[in-house]
Amino acid sequence: MPPEPVKIRNIHVQKFRNHTQSDAVFGGGINAVLGENGEGKTNLLEAISYLCLTKSFFGSSDAIVLQVGENHFEIAGELEADAGIRYHVAVTYDRLQGEKKFSINRSPVASFAEVIGSFPVVVLSPESGAITTGGPADRRKFLDFVISQSSKVYLEDLLEYRRVLRQRNKVLFDGRVTRSDCTELLEPWDEELVDRGVRITHRRKVFLKELQPLVNEAYGRIAGRAENPSLRYQPSVRHAEEASEAEIRRQFEEDLRRTTGEERKLGVTLVGPHRDEMHLEIQGLDVRSHASQGQHKTFLVALKMAEFLYLQAKQNERPILLLDDMFTELDSHRASRLLTLTESIGQVFITATSDRVFPPDFDWADNHRRFVVQQGTVEHEESSVGTRAVSRRRA
Ligand SMILES: Nc1ncnc2c1ncn2[C@@H]1O[C@H](COP(=O)(O)OP(=O)(O)OP(=O)(O)O)[C@@H](O)[C@H]1O
Ligand SMILES: [Mg+2]
Repeated sequence: MPPEPVKIRNIHVQKFRNHTQSDAVFGGGINAVLGENGEGKTNLLEAISYLCLTKSFFGSSDAIVLQVGENHFEIAGELEADAGIRYHVAVTYDRLQGEKKFSINRSPVASFAEVIGSFPVVVLSPESGAITTGGPADRRKFLDFVISQSSKVYLEDLLEYRRVLRQRNKVLFDGRVTRSDCTELLEPWDEELVDRGVRITHRRKVFLKELQPLVNEAYGRIAGRAENPSLRYQPSVRHAEEASEAEIRRQFEEDLRRTTGEERKLGVTLVGPHRDEMHLEIQGLDVRSHASQGQHKTFLVALKMAEFLYLQAKQNERPILLLDDMFTELDSHRASRLLTLTESIGQVFITATSDRVFPPDFDWADNHRRFVVQQGTVEHEESSVGTRAVSRRRA
């Protein structure tokens, strides 16, 4: 069976960011979200990410996205997944009780981690730029986000690894402050750290191998030529390319033994996947230090398209694609190639300040829709109104 697109049919947003109350019924193809700066376009995409991922794709806290001066926000909508099955999804947050609730078909979801991957989504926003321009933590965030959406086991390993790391760091830190020997206190954490850490390292390695050909393909299609983009994994626990999990484990244990003196001196854990790096290279040169602005953007879009193709293959479902402000960032050739790429891949949300990124004869009938966001309200532009009406409204 070919992969079916995941879709968000409609949304109801209340007291979220600058949306006091917004309602919209979306199309199954391209949904253009148009409006001036600061009107609430990105906020609408962020609300969609709450429904798909239980949280903001920016990592903003619930208290921050709650409308200023209010105590309660609500986002609800109908999502289509698993080959056409409809789910009523809702998320609410109450500031006074400090409580967030997520429900599917009106049944509360106990663990938010359960939801991750059920409604796969790929987000490309100006903040995503950190993947190619930022530090190793930004690239690890990308890896973890994608793998977690396709593997519940990985997400569980990751959450547990982070918990163990926090505990282990606390033991090391306390030991440093009190100048006491913490060997016995460390032991139980070491074992768990290695168990989870080995699985994470191994999974990241396999993932990057699978992602590489997808990146090559997407990069070539956007750039129009081959520039040899490559992903080079540099795990904190160094091991041979073809090392088994058992071999990685032995190396991890040895690294921990070797760094124990230093760890106690500094009070932090020095080895493990929380120190991994993924190098991005074009023609063998590091992107961060050598790539042009355009190559940065092309690499980023290629990574995101590869993420899309990867999730699609793993789940036999096409993720929802959220493209925030991306077209203004690309030259017209690359922008039109990206538009062509997205036109037939499933449900896509594109924010822009102008509809000029779409060709004048773009067919807004059928499953493509245009919305105008103004001061936190969303209005559907009927297709028969024509392109000029959008510009007039904003004039
Ligand atoms: N918690 C909040 N409560 C109320 N308003 C908020 C809140 N957070 C942000 N805003 C407002 O939302 C607006 C920004 O919305 P958004 O980022 O969606 O704009 P945009 O349409 O994407 O603009 P741009 O084209 O510049 O990206 C700002 O005016 C900001 O003051
Ligand atoms: Mg924006």
